[in-house]
Amino acid sequence: MAKLDIYQQLAVICDSHEYPIYIGANFLTDSELLNRHVDAGQVLIVTNDTLAPLYLEQVLQSFTSLQCDVVILPDGEQHKNEKNLFTIYDTLIKNNHHRDTTLVALGGGVIGDITGFAAATYQRGVRFIQLPTTLLAQVDASIGGKTAINHPLGKNMIGCFHQPHAVIMDLNTLETLPMREFRAGLAEVIKYGFLVGGEFLNTLQTVLADELTGISMEQLASLIAKCCHIKAEIVQIDERETGRRALLNLGHTFAHALEAYTHYQRWLHGEAVAIGLYCAALLSHQLGYLDKTSLDLVDHLLATAKLPRRIPKEIDLVALQTIMFKDKKIKNKTLHFVLMRTLGDCYIEALITEENLRKLLIEAVQGDQQ
Ligand code: NAD
Ligand code: GLY
Repeated sequence: MAKLDIYQQLAVICDSHEYPIYIGANFLTDSELLNRHVDAGQVLIVTNDTLAPLYLEQVLQSFTSLQCDVVILPDGEQHKNEKNLFTIYDTLIKNNHHRDTTLVALGGGVIGDITGFAAATYQRGVRFIQLPTTLLAQVDASIGGKTAINHPLGKNMIGCFHQPHAVIMDLNTLETLPMREFRAGLAEVIKYGFLVGGEFLNTLQTVLADELTGISMEQLASLIAKCCHIKAEIVQIDERETGRRALLNLGHTFAHALEAYTHYQRWLHGEAVAIGLYCAALLSHQLGYLDKTSLDLVDHLLATAKLPRRIPKEIDLVALQTIMFKDKKIKNKTLHFVLMRTLGDCYIEALITEENLRKLLIEAVQGDQQ
């Protein structure tokens, strides 16, 4: 068996329970680690038809002494739906999984979200373990207990909070992740940089300027751990997003509208987030908060990661604005935006007028830049 390399270990302490995040290498072949958070003799692995040929066999080896069933879903966001949710329930019921079973999500955020929702609802809630295989899922989706499926009329519209029992990140899996997906994950990493600023933002500037060349597995683990730590600290004080957790949505109101407008076809989520981060910075600047140097740094950092930053010319800004007002972050019919006072000091603003938004969108449209 390959040597188990744990580079970082963190804990998320929530009201429901406390759980570990392990970040390292060779985890998918480590039977002891994978079994450490399984409670009884039953496991259901949920994965997709891209990841199964790559990683399923090695994960299965760890569960040979248990009843281990498998669901392989078709790959893609469009499959995070009720049909596949019921495929998971069907397999659990047909194979007599009890309330002490453990679901194992082997994949990116799509698999994590649907598996988490199945775990939250099967027999009123069973435990689940996240084995995130994309950078985006490692720094964001696998932590914090947001689970969901999509409704035909809206993304993530059906869901609930259900924390995993462990998050086990094997960074070896990133070796097979397409570069475009990796860059999309970097958008969320950069988001954390804007949320906390300081030393972490400086480190990010350095590693991105070098295009992550020469970054060791330990350094990558420490970057991911810092993101997890920032998210865990916020989730711990506001598990159900009644306040501060909304800061994690920096750039996302724009991103979700752009994704919906283009029917989720044009950008990966992280790419839309990158445009959203630029829009949030530009709006903050237009309102007199964020200075020009910081706005330029936002643009530069996203450009260094080869991420898009501008709204394409052909997008109908009125239609985009209308979509924004269907966002989940609406309270009392008012859209809440996460804005930046400085890089490292973000806050939630409820007083954005339609005129503010219109002006912002016009200026964020693509000119000569990306
Ligand atoms: P994804 O799960 O669709 O994965 C992206 C693509 O990469 C897929 O084609 C997948 O099969 C493939 N892939 C995954 N890992 C691979 C690997 N190691 N090697 C080769 N291919 C691999 O996308 P994602 O970006 O991980 O997640 C996006 C989803 O996460 C969305 O549904 C979003 O709503 C959700 N999300 C949830 C949260 C949360 O807090 N729950 C946060 C952010 C995003
Ligand atoms: N991805 C935002 C959150 O988990 O709250």
